[in-house]
Amino acid sequence: MNIEFKLFTLAASILLAPVGAVLADSTLKDALKNDFLIGAALNPSQFTESNAVEANFVKQQFDSISPENVLKWEIVHPEPGRFDFSLADRYVEFGEANHMFIIGHTLVWHEQTPDWVFKNADGSPVDHDTLLNCLSNHIFTVVGRYKGRIKGWDVVNEAVNEDGTLRQSPWYKILGPDFLVKAYQFAHAADPQAELYYNDYSTENEPKRRGAIALIRRLQAAGVHVTAVGIQEHVRLDWPPTQLISDAITAFSQLGVKVSITELDVDVLPEAFRGNGADVSINVAQRAELNPYPNGLPDSVQAALARRYADLFAVYIKHRAEMERVTLWGVEDGDSWLNNWPVRGRTNYPLLFDREGQPKPAYTAVLQTARQMNMASHQSSLEAASLSHP
Ligand code: G3I
Repeated sequence: MNIEFKLFTLAASILLAPVGAVLADSTLKDALKNDFLIGAALNPSQFTESNAVEANFVKQQFDSISPENVLKWEIVHPEPGRFDFSLADRYVEFGEANHMFIIGHTLVWHEQTPDWVFKNADGSPVDHDTLLNCLSNHIFTVVGRYKGRIKGWDVVNEAVNEDGTLRQSPWYKILGPDFLVKAYQFAHAADPQAELYYNDYSTENEPKRRGAIALIRRLQAAGVHVTAVGIQEHVRLDWPPTQLISDAITAFSQLGVKVSITELDVDVLPEAFRGNGADVSINVAQRAELNPYPNGLPDSVQAALARRYADLFAVYIKHRAEMERVTLWGVEDGDSWLNNWPVRGRTNYPLLFDREGQPKPAYTAVLQTARQMNMASHQSSLEAASLSHP
């Protein structure tokens, strides 16, 4: 076959059916269907469909869901011996009815876990065996209830400090580092088919990334199967650089696990930290400069947000072979925890849809990025096929 004919057949095949397939992408899940699952964290108004507009919207756009809060310990297991699955059941039913990949979040965390788990009535810490039995009971009850239905669990959440050491949480202080291995063993025994994840934030930073890698290696050395690492991805317009994100995805996948982006959002407001922690007591009325866009996002920031989302998805799509899922932490801007953290009552714009549920320029930028990158890879595979079958 001569070169002109090869180029003709290549051009013809790009113009015909395959390109139509690549371009049929009016929603996120269509645009990204050849790359990875695309998900959102839901609140009860969405999965109970009391907000029918947003519920429909979730069905159109996403093929995976995460529970923003309803599967956390304080909600499902508020008191010793008392479980409350009323909201969690509705969440799972919504995901099943709409054929979505359903995530469980989260089994072992130092936040949103009631005090009774760690303390006796007199305030003293519970002993090792009491806490281990409590952990086992919690995981077997919660994971067991949704066996075969929740497809993947954030088993341990945020166990690593910024410097890479293990967080001195009550779990660590009472059970020692063994709590990690035990949590995954219990989850695996409760549902052997479920995928099991380790989930954390800021793992793009080198010291914390090294700590997370050491944690995964510790689990693997103990014979525990970890399916994927979740990079939470609560990012800013300018941090972290995409190269660090790309490096983190590569470093985790070299452990033989998949990688997911599990809690994506982009904070566009000024940083409001004092000392080493967030100061949620700052009064917005006293510090108006911390809330610069109460009535809408200026076009220049809107455009910067769109560029940031395009850059982020370009990295994820480049790594699609290593990625399982990208999940946004909320559906529309009004849902986001970033309106209330680290300062209460601000107006933030971190997601792909605005408060009216309308797609933002960032949404269009994600679709365009997916379209361009999938088109390019489709074209190069056609070229490769053409060259290998002269
Ligand atoms: O439900 C109560 C409500 O009854 C009460 O009136 C109200 C008063 O403050 O609080 C409500 O609970 C809040 C809950 O969200 C539901 O809206 C809690 O105060 C609030 O602390 C809680 O925040 C959640 C936060 O985790 C808890 O640490 C956010 O919604 C949730 O987005 C956030 O998610 C975490 C991930 O699980 C782990 N990674 C970080 C991420 C962001 O912090």
